[in-house]
Amino acid sequence: MDKLVVDNSQGVLSGSVDISGSKNAALPILMACLLAETPVKLGNVPHLMDVTTTLHLLGSMGVGLLFDENRCIEIDASTVLHKQATYDLVKTMRASILVLGPLLGRFGEAKVSLPGGCAIGTRPVNIHLDGMQKMGAQIDVENGYIVARSQGRLKGAEIVMPMVTVTGTENLIMAAVLAEGTTILRNAAREPEVTDLAQFLVKMGANITGIGTDTLVIEGVCRLKGVEYAVIPDRIEAGTYLAAAAITQSKLTVNKVNPQHLGAVLDKFMEAGAKIKTTAESITIDMRGRRLKPVNLVTEPYPLFPTDMQAQFMVMNAVADGDSVIEETIFENRFMHVPELARMGAQIEIDGNSAKIRGVPRLKGATVMATDLRASASLVLAGLVAEGETVIERVYHIDRGYELIEEKFHKIGAQVFRR
Ligand code: EPU
Repeated sequence: MDKLVVDNSQGVLSGSVDISGSKNAALPILMACLLAETPVKLGNVPHLMDVTTTLHLLGSMGVGLLFDENRCIEIDASTVLHKQATYDLVKTMRASILVLGPLLGRFGEAKVSLPGGCAIGTRPVNIHLDGMQKMGAQIDVENGYIVARSQGRLKGAEIVMPMVTVTGTENLIMAAVLAEGTTILRNAAREPEVTDLAQFLVKMGANITGIGTDTLVIEGVCRLKGVEYAVIPDRIEAGTYLAAAAITQSKLTVNKVNPQHLGAVLDKFMEAGAKIKTTAESITIDMRGRRLKPVNLVTEPYPLFPTDMQAQFMVMNAVADGDSVIEETIFENRFMHVPELARMGAQIEIDGNSAKIRGVPRLKGATVMATDLRASASLVLAGLVAEGETVIERVYHIDRGYELIEEKFHKIGAQVFRR
């Protein structure tokens, strides 16, 4: 199994990195193609393991897929035969649950393996299912599968989601766009990835208002058509490279990014002592000659600080000049990088959902284990400020979310390679 080796004896990074399309926007948009009666052409889809899994899933349903030389994907869902997602695919990617809304909305039936627990938390899907039931779906769990059916079209309903859920909001939007009548989704997630999905659906002919707010009003339409669309840039990939620059006291530019999607994250970089400059499509961070200041933070739904940047800021705080506290409020078990960072010399104490961090000047290279995508990213960052070689095992987690990670790091002067 591949390992990633990080050895950054040169220390400082420089230059620029092009950011790829967003994983968490591409996945729901690919699933939403199931709603279109004519082919969709998608651009800026990142080349990642989770995207490949999604394409397998769509292919297994009978969806036609064509790839062109500009890396655009044509997705033709006029030929859907099997309205199901089997256990072997769902177990490798929880986001497979996102086929439930579009299949039920367009065909009135879907069978999707119930996702199990996951490394970062139990991650139930009750809010997805309750919402669909409110829209008139009959939902049963049979042999580990969610079996959903509706008599004719789903019916618009007012749904108040008890907590903010990203894929829950996305699934319910996709169920509602072809429903009969009006659906109101309250306490909806406002993440840029949710907004991107909604804008894609509007381009296909859906009637959605309130996009970008926590109340979405969806007037059902009879059909949706294929369109051309480009996925937004990956704000978490961008934030991860900015963190790499911050911990190595470097100056770095990330290109092909939307700085507006990173508001709360950029505020924290500045609080940590970084100079930040933005243009419409780039962010430059300058941390040259300065040690990071510790920053306290709490993870919250967008527009507040994202859980997907928590592990990266943990590494920043681990080498900062002083003490800090990070509180994780989204997932109950998202500190699995902490014992690995401790093996590299980080001083972190966990108390429930809080981590108290005492900054040390430098970490030490070690062999460590990746446990989930963002935890793995944090271990790469730790390797950049560690003396000697850091070997990260179970690197497949990283390949789920970071396109061309070794190439991108080489370009900015870091030694990151596969062994
Ligand atoms: N929740 C419920 N019931 C539900 C749905 C969610 O209790 O029906 C709880 C979850 O257990 C969690 C909280 O609500 O405690 C929020 O979870 P959410 O549903 O928002 O997470 P998600 O949609 O499963 C997406 C991203 C995650 C990201 C979170 C939070 C995708 C494919 N995944 O997950 O991304 O951390 O939102 O922003 O969009 C990653 O990219 O590494 C990643 C894990």
